[in-house]
Amino acid sequence: MTDTVRVGLLGCGNVGAAVARMLHDHAEDIALRIGLRLEVTRIAVRDLARDRDVPVPAGAFTDDPAQVVDDHAVDVVAELIGGLEPARTLVMAAFDAGKPVVTANKELLATHGAELFEAAHRCDVDLLYEASVGGGIPLIRPLLESLAGERIVRVMGIVNGTTNYILTRMTEDGSSLAEALAEAQALGYAEADPTADIEGFDAAAKAAILASIAFDAPVVVGDVYREGISAVSAEDISNARRLGYVVKLLAIAESVDGAVSVRVHPAMIPSDHPLAAVRMSFNAVLIEGERVGELMLTGRGAGGDPTATSVVGDLIEAARNLRHGGRSAGAARARERRVLPIEEMAGQHCFLLRVDDRPGVLAAIATAFAEHRVSIKSVWQDGAGLEAHLVLVTHRADERSLRACAERLRGLDVVREVASVIRVEAGEP
Ligand SMILES: NC(=O)c1ccc[n+]([C@@H]2O[C@H](COP(=O)([O-])OP(=O)(O)OC[C@H]3O[C@@H](n4cnc5c(N)ncnc54)[C@H](OP(=O)(O)O)[C@@H]3O)[C@@H](O)[C@H]2O)c1
Repeated sequence: MTDTVRVGLLGCGNVGAAVARMLHDHAEDIALRIGLRLEVTRIAVRDLARDRDVPVPAGAFTDDPAQVVDDHAVDVVAELIGGLEPARTLVMAAFDAGKPVVTANKELLATHGAELFEAAHRCDVDLLYEASVGGGIPLIRPLLESLAGERIVRVMGIVNGTTNYILTRMTEDGSSLAEALAEAQALGYAEADPTADIEGFDAAAKAAILASIAFDAPVVVGDVYREGISAVSAEDISNARRLGYVVKLLAIAESVDGAVSVRVHPAMIPSDHPLAAVRMSFNAVLIEGERVGELMLTGRGAGGDPTATSVVGDLIEAARNLRHGGRSAGAARARERRVLPIEEMAGQHCFLLRVDDRPGVLAAIATAFAEHRVSIKSVWQDGAGLEAHLVLVTHRADERSLRACAERLRGLDVVREVASVIRVEAGEP
């Protein structure tokens, strides 16, 4: 008779319900592969009256999540509630009860990761979180295990499907941000309150997790420099296209002279860059290692079923470890590394300036750039009269100089508006 590992689900929403269905539908395959059956025995939800359409007996449900954690008929806990509390307290209680935890909760890990990993280590149980970044894309395990011997130089990715969908529509159809957002909401890609996606909070939590793993450093969401896409206009996108770039919301974690830079912001990348081809709600992460070179992992970064594949993979690993001994990688946060403030970074920028249409304008602007030692790589002028504008791309310059230069430009009487400043990443088109 095949041994059974009993799973308690905290949450039965998009992801929790898909996990329950997948464990049921794939039960035979899983048992064949690992010699264990995984069975959902308890589920916590808020609203017991709602029909869940999952192949689990009604008696398994409770509206008290602590009951799931404490139940002797639960061996492994999957935290699929989301948010910080009660998720954190429940995960800690599961560790205290000697139970491994699988979670999809990026916010929790990016805020309380160090404390949770320390508790998991102390209680000698697994804390697995493949689904927390990139939904169905295997990212955490490749970084933690397959690349355990490699030195990671940079991790750069599109980790928020909602903003990638919006930027794709703006690029391909010329939609405004408001139009593309309304469409994403109608299709269920964006929440009614889209702030977490649009302003980059979701991507920042994922960037913190990726940076922590890639650089063995306890990076938290508060360390991540964050700019969302709310200021990106259709004009920025068409200017980028004219220059051979596309605009993407990027999460970037890189090792810089022993320190770590972690940031989320819109960026222009060359239109032939691998990340430029990642369209609609797809996600992708480009990992650069010292010896392995560049690797790109791409796929569906959200959605119940794709995300459930990552959760179920983790549940299988936790079940194996529970029955056969051993712990998974994941708690190594060995090094204290300085997280560089954005002011200490350098990069290329693209300026969109609305200017007066009269002689001497270009000279005044070029002088402002020169005064701040920012050299200009290319410039074009368009329009006439009140429509006149300049698009300038700089060479690499440090952030402080660029900010001071933007301030100086705002003060020039020939500049009516510094309409946008967008970073340029990943080289020349
Ligand atoms: N959806 C995705 O595509 C995706 C992708 C990657 C990661 N994630 C992460 O996965 C987690 C779950 O996301 P989701 O989309 O499945 O969320 P969801 O659809 O809102 O489901 C949340 C579930 O948790 C239950 N719940 C909430 N608070 C509770 C409480 N205090 N006690 C008991 N049950 C409670 C809810 O109960 P009711 O059903 O009764 O309201 C619901 O079943 C989040 O951390 C999210 O960030 C989601």
